[in-house]
Amino acid sequence: MLLAKSKLKLGCGIAGVYLGSLICSALAASTVLELSESYADPAMPGHTPTQILDDMQANVFDGGRCGDQAREAIRLTFHDGIGQSVSLRASGHFGGGGAGECDRQNATSKVKPSSKDGSIIQFASVELADPANEGLDDIVYALKIFADSHDISYGDMVQFAGAVALSNCPGSPRLEFFAGRPKAIAPAPPRLIPSPSDSVEHILARMEDAGLSPEDTVALLAAHSVAVQKTVDPSVSGMPLDSTPEAFDTQFYLEITVVSDNPRHF
Ligand code: HEM
Repeated sequence: MLLAKSKLKLGCGIAGVYLGSLICSALAASTVLELSESYADPAMPGHTPTQILDDMQANVFDGGRCGDQAREAIRLTFHDGIGQSVSLRASGHFGGGGAGECDRQNATSKVKPSSKDGSIIQFASVELADPANEGLDDIVYALKIFADSHDISYGDMVQFAGAVALSNCPGSPRLEFFAGRPKAIAPAPPRLIPSPSDSVEHILARMEDAGLSPEDTVALLAAHSVAVQKTVDPSVSGMPLDSTPEAFDTQFYLEITVVSDNPRHF
């Protein structure tokens, strides 16, 4: 586990409080990027956090854009993190690793994961076969190569990439990142990722089973402010989920409450 010295402050806002608790990031009041240059991170050997950040922005996020790869990286934090189930564990089964363990010394997260994770990268051939993960192949394989080249655990990779990706989207909350997740031990159990065809009751029950309240869920859906759909209706692939996909704002909430035939968003 790493000490506070190794954390990256990527700032935060109210939605970041909830995003942070889901993805195992602690909170930062800061709105600026603070990096501890002098600290050689044992979870990221041979590279300073700034070197890793710069490499990621240049080679994964196309120069720091809030584009396809960034949106997929944000979605990936959820699809890796939601792979945990309190009820499965209570019934004696493997309950998934969720977003993995990290240094929670200063965190306010309510989620108490039982193990590792990054299983969506570690066990990509299993988890990407789940139709719920359609559209995530590119980012999973890009991050696998990146993590391997920097000797970063896949659990840390998913959450670090998500925090950086979020910071690339104008208006977004900023997350504080803690490293130190060990390797995933098994693929996430099947059928834990909510589907858009599930009922609200089913989705809320699934989120609750992963440690997230209805309030958490609503706040987390703020991520759809910068989202597009590619797989629900492939005939309009790339259509955004609100009319301002380039900005992390509250427009998604407004537009989801009205029946819309607006051709500019899904
Ligand atoms: C709780 C129930 C949720 C459902 C049913 C849901 C469903 C979806 C669907 C259907 C898409 C479009 C996928 C595609 O066709 O490519 C999508 C995209 C997305 N979702 Fe969610 N989602 C949920 C929660 C979340 C949460 C909690 C986050 C927070 C990280 C999130 C982040 C995203 C992002 C960033 C995208 C855009 C991906 C892209 O543009 O490539 N979603 N979601």
